[in-house]
Amino acid sequence: MIGILSVTCNGSTACLGVDANAISFSWVIDGAEQRDVMQQRYHLQISTAPHFQDCIYDSQWVASGQSQHVAAAGFIPLPEQRYFFRVRVEDNASEVCAWSQPGWLECAPDAVTPWQAQWISPDDRDTPPESVHLLRKTFHLRGKVKRARLYASALGIYQLQINEQDVSDALFSPGWTSYQDHIQYQVYDVTALLTQARLAIGARLAEGWYKGELSWLKRRELYGDCKALFIQLQITYEDGTEQRLISDQSWQCRPAGQSHSSFYHGERWDARVEPRHWAAGADSEGWRNVEIVPSRSAWLVPQIAEPVRVTEHLTPRAIVSRNARRTVIDMGQNMVGRVRLRATLQYGERVVLRHAEVLDREGELYTANLRGADQRVEIVGNGEPLDYAAQFSFQGFRYLEIQGLNELADERVLASITGEVLHTDMQRTGHFQCSRDDINQLYQNIIWGQRGNFVDIPTDCPQRDERLGWTGDAHIFMRTAALNYNIHHFFSKWLRSLAADQKPDGSVPMVIPDILRDYISKIWGDETYTSSGWGDAAVICPWTLYQTYGDKALLAKHWPSMKAWVHYIHATGNDPWVWNSGFQFGDWLALDAKPDSYFGATPVYLVANAFYAHVTNLLSQAAQALGLIEDARRYREWFAQIKARFVRDWLNERGEMKADTQTAHILPLAFRLLDEAQSAGVAQRLHELVAACDYHLDTGFLGTPYLCPVLSEYGYHQTAVRLLCQTTFPSWLFSVHQGATTIWEHWDGIKSDGSFWSDNMNSFNHYAYGAVGEWLYRYLAGLDFAPDSVGGNRIVFRPDVGNTEVSSAEASYLSPYGEVAIRWQREGAQARITLKVPANAQASLLIPTGWHGEFMPEGRQLQLGSGEYALLLEQR
Ligand code: BGC
Repeated sequence: MIGILSVTCNGSTACLGVDANAISFSWVIDGAEQRDVMQQRYHLQISTAPHFQDCIYDSQWVASGQSQHVAAAGFIPLPEQRYFFRVRVEDNASEVCAWSQPGWLECAPDAVTPWQAQWISPDDRDTPPESVHLLRKTFHLRGKVKRARLYASALGIYQLQINEQDVSDALFSPGWTSYQDHIQYQVYDVTALLTQARLAIGARLAEGWYKGELSWLKRRELYGDCKALFIQLQITYEDGTEQRLISDQSWQCRPAGQSHSSFYHGERWDARVEPRHWAAGADSEGWRNVEIVPSRSAWLVPQIAEPVRVTEHLTPRAIVSRNARRTVIDMGQNMVGRVRLRATLQYGERVVLRHAEVLDREGELYTANLRGADQRVEIVGNGEPLDYAAQFSFQGFRYLEIQGLNELADERVLASITGEVLHTDMQRTGHFQCSRDDINQLYQNIIWGQRGNFVDIPTDCPQRDERLGWTGDAHIFMRTAALNYNIHHFFSKWLRSLAADQKPDGSVPMVIPDILRDYISKIWGDETYTSSGWGDAAVICPWTLYQTYGDKALLAKHWPSMKAWVHYIHATGNDPWVWNSGFQFGDWLALDAKPDSYFGATPVYLVANAFYAHVTNLLSQAAQALGLIEDARRYREWFAQIKARFVRDWLNERGEMKADTQTAHILPLAFRLLDEAQSAGVAQRLHELVAACDYHLDTGFLGTPYLCPVLSEYGYHQTAVRLLCQTTFPSWLFSVHQGATTIWEHWDGIKSDGSFWSDNMNSFNHYAYGAVGEWLYRYLAGLDFAPDSVGGNRIVFRPDVGNTEVSSAEASYLSPYGEVAIRWQREGAQARITLKVPANAQASLLIPTGWHGEFMPEGRQLQLGSGEYALLLEQR
């Protein structure tokens, strides 16, 4: 029997604040009990009634296999109206399933209704920079509330309470976007909170990314000098009447208990400062009127991605050391988030929490790598029990130093501390495991790296004075990220900022949102605003999203930005087929760099032109997918020209790379710039270079992500396996064997003798080198997708059953079509394999060389439809 596992609108079964112009439906077919299930027809209905008595949209039976991103042509939703949707399908055995459980959606109001609320700002003349303010207003309701929707946004970041209850558990709303272009708002269903006639709305407002300190340049007020709040509450009463309550001149404000709050430096909270029950509207001193600031309502857009939330609570592992001055605690995991302190402090008693990722050789916090970031939280008690965690800041740390709590016994200190892990609350989609513990730890470190750096935007690191959306880091880790978690909405949101910050000439800033703007030339002593391998995110990211989720509308939306980037490169210099001018990061932080340099030995223009060819190739594929046939042809021709020029410039007459670095050999193979004979020679040389380093890598940011995949792809899989399993420096497992619980920025962030690599660039939570996670799924466990797979519809299983280092592996991935899974285990000369293929998708199984089974000759590809399979292979 088939069924529908879930039907979603824009990725969710319950959707508040949908953009009416971008609605599509997707469903997952449950075909677990059958094999080879393919959808033949679908039937989609939309109704204002939960039982679908009167459908306002009825597709009738549509002969189509499409189950992802299906548009309901002609469905024009009204703002704030709830619609229910459901679907049923017929499969290739003519079986019709039951109607799905209904989902619902409500559109955002801004498409039709103009915003009424005003942007209100607290009077912060007497408070220090980076202080937090409270804003509030009390209303009286007219009767019993049937439905209430609260729309909120801010210049800064806000938290809201209604009648002293939190409106949401989301953190850092409205999120970081290119504020000069668009600002997100959130929609909350607050019906259940409006139970009393008296309604008090209280808000806490901090500077956040809008106005607070950003980057090592210590710039402040990058988007404006006034933080502000925006609130619009739409109420429908039981009697059908409506009321709209808004932020306006009549709201009051005063300083909050936080005299300081910023992302880098932490928070200072004084429990004595905040009046009791302020959010309930209780009388107290010090309230002033707010000021109205110029409206930003035209900038408002609905929130696209999942919010940041606390997703896990960690209890401290142990006290590392304690003396009269401080207690050092090990959280057991390099985490990103905040510490919650539950304790009773005397009136005026102060506790200081300092955070660091590692300890130095003396067992004290190592904070030099935080550079200008303080990562310090100060709490002052008021004599009563307190329960406090920083509200507008987060830290990257494994170790915590507590100054204070001296009276408490060790167990009491530990019991008063909880680590709250926070990040964008994406759905987990992928899992990997194998028979080697150190590889499993590496995989866990990759997951933690993603969690710690997917905090509203993809950041380079979560601890020092950066935490910025470096474009290069984002695209090199993205393929791994997309297996681990559903990043569809997370990256859609970030790409909107990328497109907004792209320069009129098509160049793409190095960080998005672009807060380096005009300072970049000062920093690098160069007028260049961009770099290859970084700006390429403009093409690689939308294309990867399309391949992963099959969202053509999103690809179409980013087409202008993708095209503009390639045209930018095309127009630099005198020769359209070469990029050989301006600043380039090249293979950043590669180990073959000269001493004291961050720039790898691979010529930067070799790197630039390899990427130029690659993104032009992707652009032609994107044009093809969008049906832009003429563009597809044009960019294919460009690709051919750039490729030919690359070969001319960077290969000698014997077909060898002129630069003899690992990365110089990796990139042309990864981007398919060479013919078969050249590829064979270059791959062999790459293998020799790796072997010559005794199976160690020599690569940096741009070579490393492609290294293992290229070796596996071009006939040197065993070399890739040896590299991955290498435990001495430099290697992925070196840091694991040093006790790392996240991915390090530098291969020897901590050296074997316990000393540090460099204070300046020494993050212990940098996801970039975690890009090897993709290889673990694809080439070790063997869960992969064909190059022409769209949204996960063409699976490739290549179980590495002959692996010399690992005797079993498994991976699963929740694709848009449903769960894909593989598990293999070798026992002597036999290997057992189990596979899972979701309905409406197809798979091929590659029988490894040297192995065979019944009807499965070695080296053969077996085509599989949906279903679960158990197979036995034998070694020849
Ligand atoms: C960041 C990197 C980034 C690089 C570019 C660093 O400071 O942490 O990850 O890509 O700068 O130069």
